[in-house]
Amino acid sequence: MCGIVGYTGSKQAAPILLDGLERLEYRGYDSAGLAVRNGDALAEVVKATGKLYHLADKTDQGRSLPGTCGIGHTRWATHGDPSLVNAHPHVSGNCSGSGSGQVESDVVGVHNGIIENFTELKEKLLRHGYAFYSDTDTEVVVKLVDYYYKKYKIGPVDAITRTMVRVRGSYALALMFKDYPGEIFAARKDSPLIIGTAEDASFLASDVPAILKYTRQVYYIDNLQVARIAPSSVKFYDLNGDEVTLPLTEITWDAAAAERGGFEHFMLKEIHEQPQAARDTLNSLIRDGKIDLTSAGLTDDTLRSFEQIDIVACGSAWHVGMASQYVIEDLTQLPVRVELASEFRYRHLPIRKDTLVIVISQSGETADSLAALRVAKERGAMTLAVVNVVGSTIAREADHVLYTLAGPEIAVATTKAYSAQLVAMDALAVQMAYVLGTISNEQYGHFIEELGAIPDKIRRVLEDKERLQWFSSKIANAHDIFFIGRGLDYAISLEGSLKMKEISYIHSEAYAAGELKHGTISLIEHNTLVIGVLTQSELFEKTISNMVECKSRGAYLMGVTTNGNFTVEDSVNFTVYIPKTDEHFVSSLAVVPLQLLGYYTSVNRGLDVDKPRNLAKSVTVE
Ligand code: G6P
Repeated sequence: MCGIVGYTGSKQAAPILLDGLERLEYRGYDSAGLAVRNGDALAEVVKATGKLYHLADKTDQGRSLPGTCGIGHTRWATHGDPSLVNAHPHVSGNCSGSGSGQVESDVVGVHNGIIENFTELKEKLLRHGYAFYSDTDTEVVVKLVDYYYKKYKIGPVDAITRTMVRVRGSYALALMFKDYPGEIFAARKDSPLIIGTAEDASFLASDVPAILKYTRQVYYIDNLQVARIAPSSVKFYDLNGDEVTLPLTEITWDAAAAERGGFEHFMLKEIHEQPQAARDTLNSLIRDGKIDLTSAGLTDDTLRSFEQIDIVACGSAWHVGMASQYVIEDLTQLPVRVELASEFRYRHLPIRKDTLVIVISQSGETADSLAALRVAKERGAMTLAVVNVVGSTIAREADHVLYTLAGPEIAVATTKAYSAQLVAMDALAVQMAYVLGTISNEQYGHFIEELGAIPDKIRRVLEDKERLQWFSSKIANAHDIFFIGRGLDYAISLEGSLKMKEISYIHSEAYAAGELKHGTISLIEHNTLVIGVLTQSELFEKTISNMVECKSRGAYLMGVTTNGNFTVEDSVNFTVYIPKTDEHFVSSLAVVPLQLLGYYTSVNRGLDVDKPRNLAKSVTVE
């Protein structure tokens, strides 16, 4: 979703802003823009549709936009089509055209999020003589700030807080005021925003990678707070306009972690980082042969106190929940519900007080997951966030946080964060089972040993990538692909299918293998690819039979199974083997060939692997 950057300091702002926007490209966007101020002069606004290089070309890589204070934006269209006129920054002035150039305006701003009551606010502003040139909710907010700024004449912080009281929805806003050269004002509610500080320069951004090259010192601005940044000062205010103090956090990740490091795409790099992501996450949870969740505030007594687990998430994180459901239920015998956050938040489900609601999220900012977390808290459940981004909103609002240590993930299609979430949830399942007494001491030791071996086994799966590269070249023109499995293999199929469709744009679906006969099998034609996941020994024969049923209707079969199950080759056209592991933890291994298959298919089709069309890394709107 939209990305925001801001810079004020002693250097030229535009190249820094362009560089920051490039690092936020992964969030997904369809147009971009900059507003830069040269001393006291009005802000100069430049916008471009399409890829960021159009904006860089238009501004001679930023050189044609002099000035040391500016804001930048990549827009993922919500209100209004992805056109020049709707691209940000937006201005408060009356202007014709797209709002580019030097428009006589008191306020210019960029925004990430959605203003829900923008129609009502627009009507109010129209009555007060404002005219609108775009279809965006952002132009409405910028003009509302301008309205309060002029009406009360108490200054930018007051105008912004009054606006915050009037708007409903989510926002990260960065604004420049004509009367305040060298300063940027920002506000936030439910959309990510960080403020960075360095010697003689201050920054703001939607995410850390945008500014990591310049500083590691960041403030996580809270919901309903305002920031005022100047080259050598950063101040924060609450909704009353009173100054508040926020802690400064040092970012510890390696800047190289956000670079491609020799790989053709971030996705391929991140696929290869999975052994490390799983190892780091497990190492943070396993000490001296025991699982220790106290860093997440989960003592044995706390873990013993739940009668029900609800897992809530979106996208791949929801698939982690689906896989964990099988593992937790099997090991602990506790009932587990897995819900899509977008459904959960509006479903009025009964939630008992002895329920642990687990929200899984890489970004910690997904709007539906955040809303679901708040619903769960309101209903009195205890909440646990399994989150990758430190300091994100979900991490801050949940009662307990279990951090995955995957490092920054840039490719839109998640891989290493998914893997880190899986092992974190497996460790949680094992520890719960242990304290509940549903597994023995021997089993506990065995599970911990098996978990510890996962990272190296993922590495071994990666060694087989050339065969998948070869196979993907054969399927690059497929129209439909079906992924099937039973039990945990079904959960893995869901993720395999999503990886395929989101980056290769080939239609694919995942089905519980037993459901095929209830409709889907009518879609099988000559050469339709059916990929069966076959790792659960108890269900192996059943799924093979379903695959053979497809084959006899013309399907071409691929199987993913455990080393040693060589009989698969009697029925299946192409087989991928993964190392043997305890069957509870197999998802971490079986998903890897499916990620690689999606990746190579996208590459073979010449697509934008890291930034697939219409998708965003972090979905901060409903
Ligand atoms: C987007 C991403 C997915 C991700 C989902 C949930 O759709 O493209 O990869 O699984 O959001 O995101 P979260 O940050 O909450 O895990």
